Amino acid sequence: MQKTDHKSIHGSGKRQRVRTNMVNVFIMGKRHVVPEHATIMRAIEHAGHQIIRGAGCREGFCGACGTLYRLPGDYKLHTGLACTTLVQEGMVLAQIPYVPMQKAVYDLEKLTPDAGTIEKVYPVTFRCVACGTCSKACPQGLPVMDYIQAAMRGDIATVADIAFDCVACGLCALRCPAEIIQHEVGILCKRLTGRYLRKESRELDERLGEIRSRKFDAEYDELMAMDKKVLTKLYYDRDIEP
Ligand code: FES
Repeated sequence: MQKTDHKSIHGSGKRQRVRTNMVNVFIMGKRHVVPEHATIMRAIEHAGHQIIRGAGCREGFCGACGTLYRLPGDYKLHTGLACTTLVQEGMVLAQIPYVPMQKAVYDLEKLTPDAGTIEKVYPVTFRCVACGTCSKACPQGLPVMDYIQAAMRGDIATVADIAFDCVACGLCALRCPAEIIQHEVGILCKRLTGRYLRKESRELDERLGEIRSRKFDAEYDELMAMDKKVLTKLYYDRDIEP
């Protein structure tokens, strides 16, 4: 049997009966009682919604589920990935319309790894006033502002290094008052670093050769035809590099 307790509900000052292992969250303005250890994504589903957009890997890698929320009595607009952020009592969730960004189209072969390229491809980067809003918004905890500053200096390798774990959820861009598209600048610098600044990889060339010679086609076909349960087990049982 669930224990019950009285908890204060968001903003209203009312006290309502809520099971102690459950919390109140507000989705589109409506209160729902959800398990306290649920992620935001699970809570939304527990409330009866089916998530068919804004979700991908459900494990914090793909960046599809960037979310904004507020907490009771806290003016701050919080950011997080819905698949990994746990609910909190009184959390108010909102749907974000979209992440504003104008993704540039460029030919990597015609670019050089320097500040001139940043200026040409993403000139808005130079509007950075170093307010740090992007870093505060990053659900990965990356010092986003630092890599934008490095991009302005033309230190492309440092950008690639700092932005390595970026999942491109776009929450930095969403919050940036200067309308910079930080994650796209990061992707550009990672491409430039791979193309011009890292030494050539013999292993990569070998692997690409194997793919071109269709070495893995049979195995790929086998995976595509596999039952989902078997495929899931295979995925979680795989060897993971330390
Ligand atoms: S669904 Fe992929 S990061 Fe959340």
